[in-house]
Amino acid sequence: MSRLTESAPWRALVEHHKALQHVHLRELFAADPHRAEALSHTLADTFFDFSKHRITSETLTLLLELARAAQVPRWRDRMFAGEPINVTEGRPVLHVALRNRSDRPIRVDGHDVMPEVRAVLDRMYTFAEEIRSGAGRGATGRAFTDVVNIGIGGSDLGPVMVTEALRPWGKGGIRPHFVSNIDGTHLVETLSSLDPETTLFCVASKTFTTIETLTNAASARAWLTSALGDDAVAAHFVALSTHAERVAAFGIPEAHRFGFWDWVGGRYSLWSAIGLSIVLAIGPDAFDELLQGAYEADEHFRTAPLEDNVPVWMAMIGIWYHDFFGAASHAILPYDQYLHRFAAYFQQGDMESNGKGVDRGGCSVDYPTGPVVWGEPGTNGQHAFFQLLHQGTHLVPCDFIGAIRSHNPLGEHHDILMANFFAQTEALMRGRTADEVRAGLARRGTELSDDAVAHRTFPGNRPTTTILLDQITPRSLGRLIALYEHKIFVQGIVWDINSFDQWGVELGKELATTILSELRGDGGPSLHDASTAALIARYRTRRDPA
Ligand code: F6P
Repeated sequence: MSRLTESAPWRALVEHHKALQHVHLRELFAADPHRAEALSHTLADTFFDFSKHRITSETLTLLLELARAAQVPRWRDRMFAGEPINVTEGRPVLHVALRNRSDRPIRVDGHDVMPEVRAVLDRMYTFAEEIRSGAGRGATGRAFTDVVNIGIGGSDLGPVMVTEALRPWGKGGIRPHFVSNIDGTHLVETLSSLDPETTLFCVASKTFTTIETLTNAASARAWLTSALGDDAVAAHFVALSTHAERVAAFGIPEAHRFGFWDWVGGRYSLWSAIGLSIVLAIGPDAFDELLQGAYEADEHFRTAPLEDNVPVWMAMIGIWYHDFFGAASHAILPYDQYLHRFAAYFQQGDMESNGKGVDRGGCSVDYPTGPVVWGEPGTNGQHAFFQLLHQGTHLVPCDFIGAIRSHNPLGEHHDILMANFFAQTEALMRGRTADEVRAGLARRGTELSDDAVAHRTFPGNRPTTTILLDQITPRSLGRLIALYEHKIFVQGIVWDINSFDQWGVELGKELATTILSELRGDGGPSLHDASTAALIARYRTRRDPA
């Protein structure tokens, strides 16, 4: 047994769960008319309703005791203080420095990183202004119209998600495109509508070693130089990377490298130079607002008592379901088309961070850690997978995210969207009893057998968080992203895992390198299992027919 599962708060939660697991949310609402108010928070223009969760004030007390026992405040302070809390890589975790709007220095080994952070940001803004205004031009003297960000994982998902979410701020800016997949189709299809003379490439890679990114970048360079010649590379390529030498070796001059630091995790890097494609698309002012929103969330997380701390609530309520109710997944359901990549973004943010099976001391954990994170924008999901949410056998806690004002008011669209938004959380919470089904049928003069009624009955008691923003803006988006980041942080601390490394992706990369040599015909004798060996053999035979 681990220290966590033996701890007093954990054991108290096990007992509490036994008592609460059969209590229906309908009963909790009926018992307390102030429940909705008591279990909600407002942070600037964003409202968080946690009342449709299977919790009571006692649950919260116990969950917060668990957070305290895990020393969440101390770890949080260590993160903000620049201590090397990424224990397997011996690094600080300082994406919060990238959006620190205060005069507060943030030190790594006694050295204040803020002047460098501000200097890179200033260079990004100046560069983006030049490109956006048309002053910075391509090799043939034409202004840039399009930017292609070439990156993968954290060097892609954040910029994609944010530029999509903030499209209203991108009107008239440089058109952003994203190439991540090594499948040549992604690059070929993206470039097919672009003109080399007016296209800028951002090669986004923290390490500048990622095979997908470097292969795509090399092919993009070939596409450019075949049209404009080798000399065009300097004007049409910029690099967003921590690694100066590798960037130089690729042929991108230092003046076109925007650097960052090893204490910025890839999946937390949209706030760094990796965000250059965002700045090119939406402009420095909007990007600054994004940083401001994130800073506000950081300050809230850093200073609010645990009882009022929104990301701490999000985290601890998640732990309640994953570790005590056995919920294996978590759905993020934005009722806003602009947020259509939000769940995909936090799939990496959460699953790469907390998909860990050993604790910080290297021992296997005996409790569930990070959930499977998934989701789609509403109302599409309603017509796809909501059936399982309502009547399936899995308990799936969901976050419903919506905005009061649409950027595209069109007839009744937004009211219909939001009617569905409110209806779904109510339906998931209330369900529909057999008596209610029969009463409804009776009103219509119909009667059905018991088994037919059973199919129409909904158990309810399905938990949701409602996050209601006034409107999606750079600031509210920055705030929301940072809150989710801190939620993931808190969960990792309580689970006693290192949320900041990702060794799990290495094995597949190593094997792929070996197999690539074999596909090229220069590999040694095959050491694969029979299945993999046969698949490779079939691929090679049919790829190169005699
Ligand atoms: O393979 C996973 C990963 O290391 C992610 O953590 C990272 O976001 C992505 O690859 C891209 O890495 P890089 O920015 O170094 O190319």
